Amino acid sequence: VILGYHHYEVLGQPLRKYLDLDLVALAEFQSPYPADASFAQKAFFASMHTGEPQHQTIITVDRRDHQLVLALDIRQLYNDSGEQVGMLIAFTDVTVMHRLEEEKQRLDRLASLGEMAANVAHEVRNPLASIKTSVQMLQDDMVENEHLFTRSAEGRDETDSEGAAMHMNWARESVAVILKEAERLDTIVHELLLFARPRRLHRVRCSIQELIDHVLTVIERQSNDGNVEMHRVYEHIKPIWIDMDQIEQVLLNLCLNAVQAMPDGGILTVLCQRISTEQAIYDTAGTACPPTQRPSGSLGTAVSAYAWLIDRYAGQKESRVEHWLEILIRDTGVGIANDQLQHIFQPFYTTKAHGIGLGLAITRRLVEDHGGYLRVESEFGYGSTIGVRLPFVTDETMREDVRETVMLED
Ligand SMILES: Nc1ncnc2c1ncn2[C@@H]1O[C@H](COP(=O)(O)OP(=O)(O)O)[C@@H](O)[C@H]1O
Ligand SMILES: [Mg+2]
Repeated sequence: VILGYHHYEVLGQPLRKYLDLDLVALAEFQSPYPADASFAQKAFFASMHTGEPQHQTIITVDRRDHQLVLALDIRQLYNDSGEQVGMLIAFTDVTVMHRLEEEKQRLDRLASLGEMAANVAHEVRNPLASIKTSVQMLQDDMVENEHLFTRSAEGRDETDSEGAAMHMNWARESVAVILKEAERLDTIVHELLLFARPRRLHRVRCSIQELIDHVLTVIERQSNDGNVEMHRVYEHIKPIWIDMDQIEQVLLNLCLNAVQAMPDGGILTVLCQRISTEQAIYDTAGTACPPTQRPSGSLGTAVSAYAWLIDRYAGQKESRVEHWLEILIRDTGVGIANDQLQHIFQPFYTTKAHGIGLGLAITRRLVEDHGGYLRVESEFGYGSTIGVRLPFVTDETMREDVRETVMLED
């Protein structure tokens, strides 16, 4: 039942047909353990030889290829006269607990990392600001007083004035480089702060289509330069209550990543549509397995954050959110390799020469603050689709609970 089979299907069948351990075949060996025995197999043997019950946790997949974590309780089975008549293995599905534990560990890590990032950013910010101001003044000064440099070169011989011009050029270039690098540092500090201390949600009523249009205008130059064609597919969608600045940042990060993933040009498609709460919840439960566990050849899928979903929507039906909003950002770029998928949301993970690796970490945080989550589907070499899914907070739902939180937070 845990694995999704009917008992008619499995009765009398070898266990290894359904589970990833060769208990049946191995039981014929007795001892010692085969060199490549798994933990579960060792536990099985240990129990067989010592008579002590053994506990193990195994990771396996059910019939639909969804990952499951099972707790095994292995003990010997005796009849009334004390003879051993077999082994009893009890399986308990602990997937949800396991995920919550993982999610908790991730949040703990994130919290300490965020604290450190905030401190570093704070320390770096002030000196950086004075460097920028000074260099800017130096640059302005050089432009304004260029004649002084040229005049001082006058009356000297030709090599001298050539030398002066060379120095001037060199100084100008250096100043430009310093400024550019300072700008870059500034961006890093800005992102670090965003990552470490996201603002409280400030939900306002907005048209998601207009927001997407705005973001696409912001990246227009970049996509034109990169030969990227933009397509929009919008379903008619009612105004939604979101933190506009934050969702703008989310869309910007995702669209920029998409454009950057298509160095030779391509097509960027942004779709927005309404999906049912069932779909939003079913899909996460369905695809939240680490991509490495998927059968090879299938599309890699990564999903962020479902702990809160399990927590809040475990009963599913009592949810007051009737619909979800899904925004898909699809590119025809380089794609994300399966072994990369599990890292892309980690802070500072980047594959770009000048990347910072905070874009998706920030994006994930902002989306989760909205009670939503991200979905990534990618086929290496053919492109990626990143889905942003947000519970649809409409005027009506806003009146009930969210408006309350906004007021509390404000
Ligand atoms: N649309 C995409 N296509 C291919 N790879 C992507 C895409 N979006 C993100 N990635 C991968 O995820 C990594 C992390 O992205 P991000 O957090 O935005 O940091 P950065 O853009 O600074 O590298 C990228 O370096 C890239 O390898
Ligand atoms: Mg990025």
